[in-house]
Parts: sequence; structure tokens; C-alpha cells
Amino acid sequence: MLQDKITQYTAEINAFSTSNADELEQFRIKFLGTKGIIKDIFDEFKAVSPEEKRTLGKVLNEFKQLAEARYQSLKEETEVAVSSKDSGLDLTLPGEGFDVGSRHPLALVRREIIEIFSKLGFVVAEGPEIEDDWHNFSALNFPEEHPARDMQDTFFIKKGGEKGDIALRTHTSSVQVRMMEHGKPPFRAIMPGRVYRNEAISARAHCFFHQIEGLYVDENVSFADLKQTLFYFVQELYGEGTKVRFRPSYFPFTEPSAEMDISCTICKGAGCPMCKYSGWVEILGCGMVDPNVLENCGIDSKKYSGFAFGMGIERIANLKYEIKDLRFFSENDARFLKQYKTSLI
Ligand code: PHE
Repeated sequence: MLQDKITQYTAEINAFSTSNADELEQFRIKFLGTKGIIKDIFDEFKAVSPEEKRTLGKVLNEFKQLAEARYQSLKEETEVAVSSKDSGLDLTLPGEGFDVGSRHPLALVRREIIEIFSKLGFVVAEGPEIEDDWHNFSALNFPEEHPARDMQDTFFIKKGGEKGDIALRTHTSSVQVRMMEHGKPPFRAIMPGRVYRNEAISARAHCFFHQIEGLYVDENVSFADLKQTLFYFVQELYGEGTKVRFRPSYFPFTEPSAEMDISCTICKGAGCPMCKYSGWVEILGCGMVDPNVLENCGIDSKKYSGFAFGMGIERIANLKYEIKDLRFFSENDARFLKQYKTSLI
């Protein structure tokens, strides 16, 4: 009788499986509880004959162990299932990939430009973004009340002060002044940095952008040095065979001044919307440092001469990556930034 019951319950225990905590608790109460089957069977066991006890005792102990072991192993499984459900995790799903960051396209282009000029011996110089009138304008030969100041729609912060108005720098030429004021020629440096102009934000203009300007001052520096330096730069950046041309221009701080065009990198000069079908695109302003600027910075303009140039990094990046809208650069849209997955080093 007792043996039959044990055989039947053994089959039931072996067949039982669950990952549900409630069902498992029912199982525990049914078999292992204080009023459970095992307790009953042990009570019945007390009444069997001594001969039967010898064989049945062993069977009974094994049965009890089986029930307990089954309960323990199902409990462990259930706990894993419960904890993964609680934390919203499905442990059977494959792992999620994660994105490694990427360099901003402007940072990539800035680095490339710095590398090219460093091969020619140019070092990097930096200066403050909040500037006084002297470093941003006056020292650079912008006479007071001169309309040339309107060329660069300035964000003024404060009027007055020891050196005049305080403003967000409109170009990194201010760093050239600081460098010349504090050192002795020769100077051979480039100045990367953010600059600000009061322009309405659109696809083609922004209230801030990034520049790299360059300065070379020494004895006997000529316009030919300027042309050769910039020609080398363009060949390195856009590839050999890129043509350059210089058009006369005006900047208060350079004389003579020029704007430099390169043959359109997109259509190679054939004509496209980027170059407005002219085959040429302007990339920078340049010229020989005006002697007044050298003198303003305490440099003997009879002994020394120099050239300077300045370009917008956004423009250079546009021509490299064909980015049609300037606003992409500052909106931090990951879909845009992810496209520039170059090495992180
Ligand atoms: N500072 C000028 C600008 O911001 C660029 C420039 C620099 C032109 C040096 C000539 C020489 O437009």
C-alpha cells in the first residue's frame, strides 16, 4: 500500500516542473508542508510491521530526499526567472552593442590643417574668446569709427574699460596681436579657435564659427612665400593638382590683401552648385601684414615683414565632406556625427 503510494508520488514529483513561484509554493505545501504528503506517509509508516520497516525505511528516505532536491532545484530556476523579469531583462536576448564616440568633423579638419602647417614649422597659438577692442580691432589697424569695423558684425559685451570695448572676438587675428606683443620675431604660428559674429542663423551663416589663421613674420618675408605656403597647404589638404588663384581684396591689417580661390573640389572645376558653376571656390583671406600692425605690436617694420592668412574651418570641411547646412555642425545630431567614424586617436 505504502509502496504503491510512494511509486505514484515519485512519478508525480519527477514530472513536475515550473518556473512560477506560486506553483512551486503549492508543490512545497503539498509534499513538504507540515500537513503534506511526506508527513502523512511518515505517519503511516509508523504503523507498518517491523519487517516491512526495514525495506520501506530506505525507500521512504530516498523519496523524501527526492522531493526536497526537486524543490530546491526548481526554486533556484524560479529565482533567476523572477529576477530577470523584475529588472525587465530577458537574459536569452543577445547582448546590445554600444557606440564608441567619434570625432567631430570640425575637429578632424582642424587637426588635419594643424598637421599640414606643422610640417612647415608652424606652431599652434591660442588666445581668449572674449577680447578687448585693442586686440580685436585697433592694433589690427581698424581706425576708430572706421566702416571696416562693420565688416565683422560684432557682439559687444561691455563699453569702456582700460582698453576700450569688450567683445566676443570676431576673428583669431587677435591672437596674432597677442603673440607679436609678447615675443620677438621670427613668428611662425597658426591660431585655431572659435569666433563670433552677429549674423542670423541659416544654412550658410551662423553666429559663431571656427577659424584657423596663420602668421609668419621674419626678415625678408615676401608675397612669394605666402603664395608658396598656401599652395603647399592646398595640395596637401585637397590633393595634388588642386589649382589656386589670388584675387585682390581688402583687409585693414594686410597690405596688399588677397582672397584665395581653389579649383572646386567637388566638380574639379567643371561647374556645380557648390562653386555656383564658376569652377572656383573661395577658401581664405590673406596678405602681407600691414607695417602699422607690426609697429602697433612693437616690431620694427623696417627690419621685419610678414604674411598672414585666415580661413573658416566650416568652409574647409564643407568642401571636404559636402555638408550643405552649417547648422549641422552645432546641433549635436548623432545621425550626423556618427558618419565621421575615423580613428579616435
Ligand atoms: N581675419 C580675417 C577674417 O576673419 C581673415 C584674414 C586673416 C585675412 C589674415 C587676411 C589675413 O576674415
